Parts: sequence; structure tokens; C-alpha cells
Amino acid sequence: MDPAPTEEDLRRVVENGMAGSAMPAWKGRLSDREISAVLSHIKTLAPDAFSAPPSQPIHAGSPPAVTPTRLASGKSVYEKMQCAKCHGAGGVGDGPSAAALKDDLGFPIPPADFTLGIFKGGDDPRDIYTRFTTGMLGTPMPSFGELLTDEERWNLTLYVKSLSTESSLSDEPQTIVAALTSKITDNPYDPVWTKSPPVRVALRPLWQRSRFPRFAEVRAAHDGKTLAVHLVWFDPSKDASNVEVDRFVDAAAVQFPLSDEPGFFGMGAVLSPSNIWHWKADLQADIDLKLAERERRDVESAYPNMVADAYPFLGKDWSGARHDDRLRPVKDYDDPTFLTAWAAENPLSDPERKSPCTEYNAKGPGSLTAQPHGHQSIAGNGQWRGGVWTLVLLHELHSGDEMDAMFSMGDERPIAIAIWDGAAGDRDGQKVVSQWHRMALRP
Ligand code: HEC
Repeated sequence: MDPAPTEEDLRRVVENGMAGSAMPAWKGRLSDREISAVLSHIKTLAPDAFSAPPSQPIHAGSPPAVTPTRLASGKSVYEKMQCAKCHGAGGVGDGPSAAALKDDLGFPIPPADFTLGIFKGGDDPRDIYTRFTTGMLGTPMPSFGELLTDEERWNLTLYVKSLSTESSLSDEPQTIVAALTSKITDNPYDPVWTKSPPVRVALRPLWQRSRFPRFAEVRAAHDGKTLAVHLVWFDPSKDASNVEVDRFVDAAAVQFPLSDEPGFFGMGAVLSPSNIWHWKADLQADIDLKLAERERRDVESAYPNMVADAYPFLGKDWSGARHDDRLRPVKDYDDPTFLTAWAAENPLSDPERKSPCTEYNAKGPGSLTAQPHGHQSIAGNGQWRGGVWTLVLLHELHSGDEMDAMFSMGDERPIAIAIWDGAAGDRDGQKVVSQWHRMALRP
């Protein structure tokens, strides 16, 4: 049997997470004792591997300084060892064997794209040195330990690192300060927002992929009554139409646990329910369009040449309708008989909605529940310009609603961010998320 990872290897993964994957960093969020306890538990899950004598740790020493000579000789090691067969000549992961690679379970596994600067196993030069010295168990990434001298390994490490154009962002817990301001506005471009520097929060895909927004910039402010959260993130394409069945929309959410003990950063937990403020680009587009043209997009606008057999409700006389005023149709096609979710008072289907946001509660995956009519108290405005979404979310500090997160001066509470990229097919749990950070309310 292959030697199991050392305790130190396991600890490093749990503490630092795996960059660019769903595995988040737990350092600063779990205590040392909790991390030791979880490591002991992990070992019980693979008793055979961990009962074998521990593997010999690799002592990588300290990395030498980068010099042109070292990079050039690293490049020739890269060529000699045929790293390019899988990782590609330029390191983008597009080598001739790349498409056919499978892991030990038979699933396709792309070779790392070094240009992204995302190293699951850590981006410290020592981590990279270790990766190709040991290989990666369970994957086609071979071990080159015996084949290379220490000198060659360092040169190769420096060369591989030099291929990345970006660096990973630390996932350490950060504090977003919501300071008192005299003006709260839902205009995401108001200069008031850029007065304070943003907090950069690292994001990771819950569904593995190599391209995703790496971070969101978060700011917060309050005026004593309303709390505003301001988010900025990169997204090269604006996806704001979900009328077509094969398209998905951009969206964003912030999550506050109702208690101080946060649950799962992606969706709360049974013992730690969350309040979620969710914004969607298609709802925003409907509202912006409505303001401009008093219209709303529907299947007819996406498919102008479509033909419908019959609309039994067209031209119907509504004067004696028994629906209450809130359900009275504003357009012929708004007959609640056909908008059944709306007739059942699902706020998501309200054809007259005024806010591009929905307020939810969740107690773990599969439990997302929209707050009913009358309890929806979240407003917002998100706009896209030149590859960047800028969004403001507004909510009362103290709504008095027990399912809402409520904030008092001096509070420090956990906050997590989620971003959906429609072009990448994101929807529901397929999203890009942050770990828990903290938001501090200052008078
Ligand atoms: C047979 C194909 C193949 C060859 C040849 C190969 N690799 Fe890899 N390599 C992979 C795969 C696949 C992965 C991704 C494993 C994963 O994601 O779990 C990987 C991952 C890596 C990583 C880790 C990236 C991370 O996210 O931490 C490094 C570093 C690396 N390779 C370096 C090299 C170097 C240097 C060489 C040449 C000496 C090389 N590889 C040769 C397939 C290969």
C-alpha cells in the first residue's frame, strides 16, 4: 500500500484549504484542538493506510532566489521530464494527453493550469517541490522524486511558479466594518461607496472548475436604521435572462447566521439557521425594463416567432373576479390560474415585484425557504458595467422579524458571500462561495 500522508500534510490541508477547490481554510475558524480532533477522525476513516508505518517526510529546505539561469534550466527540466505532455508547453494544462487523463476512480481529471496561480497543494515553493517529488496519489500526476537532483527540483519549482500570472488569495478570516454614514443609497455607483477601501474576500467554487471569480470586494455601512452591503465582483458576461430553459442568470447573496455559531458557509445548518439576502440579475432586468418601458420579458420576447395554440384567458372579463386585489391580473397573461405559484402566494412569482432581491432562510442544503409575503424586507440594486457587477443590498438593522438577522451597535457577526455566474451554468448549490468572515457594526 502507498504510504499515507503525514499528520503534517493533513494538518496543512485542513488549515489552509485547497486553493481553487471547494475545500476551504479552517485556520482561525477551528481551534488547534478541534483541528487535531478532526485529523484523528480522518485517520479512522482509512484505518489500513494509517496503521502502516508513517511515510518519510520530504525535507525540501529553503527555496533559492529566482535567477534567469535557474528559470532557464528549470524550463529544460520541464521539457526533459515531459511535463508538457499533460500540463502543456505554456503550462495552461492543455498538453496532448490532458483530455484523456482519468483519476483512480475513473473520473476525468484535468492537469493543473499553472498560469492560474491556483495550487491545490499550496503555492509555497516547498509545496510545489513536494508535489512533483511525491506525485499525487490517486491521480495521474507521477512522482519524479528519483529522477531529479535537488538542484533540478528547485529550478523546476521556480520555473513552474514563474508560469502563473496571478497569485492565490488568502482565505483567512477578515473583518468587514459597517461604519455609520449619513447617506445610505441604493445607487451602487454612488461615490459614497468608494470612500472606504473594500475588504477582499476569497471565493471558491463549490463545483470544481478552473475559471471563476477569485474574490469579491465587500463594503458595508449603516445610518442607524438600515444596513447596506456593497459587493463588487468580476464577471465578463452579463447573464440576466432566464426565459430560455438553457440559460442561467448571474446572482449574489450574503448570508448571516441567526445565532453566533455559524453552520455550513454554503447554506447554514440544522442547528444554525441562516438569513439569506439574495439578488438576481433577471429580476433586476425586469425591474429596470419595467421602469423604462413598463414591460416585462417573457417567452414571447425571447422567441418572437413562437406560436401559442390558445390563450383561454386572453380577453377575459375580470370585473367580477373573485381574486383579491393583490392577485388581480395586470396583464392578460397574469391570470393566477396560469401563474399557479403566484396564486399560492410564492413571492418569487409575483409579476409586480418591486425588489430584485428575495429574503430566505436556510438550515442546510435543500432547505432554502423564501420568507412569505409581508416578511420580505430586502431591497437592492445591482448593475453591470464592463465586466464588473456592482451591487447594493439594503435591509433594516432591526426588523423585529425573528427570522431576520438583527444587528446592534458593536455587534460582530459571521457573514458569508455567494456568487453565481450564469454563463458557467451556476444555479442553486452550483455557486462560488466564501468562507465565514465577520462583520462589525460601529457607531
Ligand atoms: C501524466 C500526466 C502528467 C504529467 C506527465 C505531469 N503531471 Fe503534474 N499533474 C497532472 C495532473 C492530472 C494533476 C492534477 C491532480 C489533481 O488535480 O489532483 C497534476 C498536478 C500537478 C501539480 C499540483 C498542482 C496543484 O494544484 O497543487 C504540480 C505542481 C505539477 N502537476 C507539476 C508537474 C511537473 C513539474 C511535471 C513534470 C516534471 C508534471 N507535473 C508532470 C498530470 C501530470
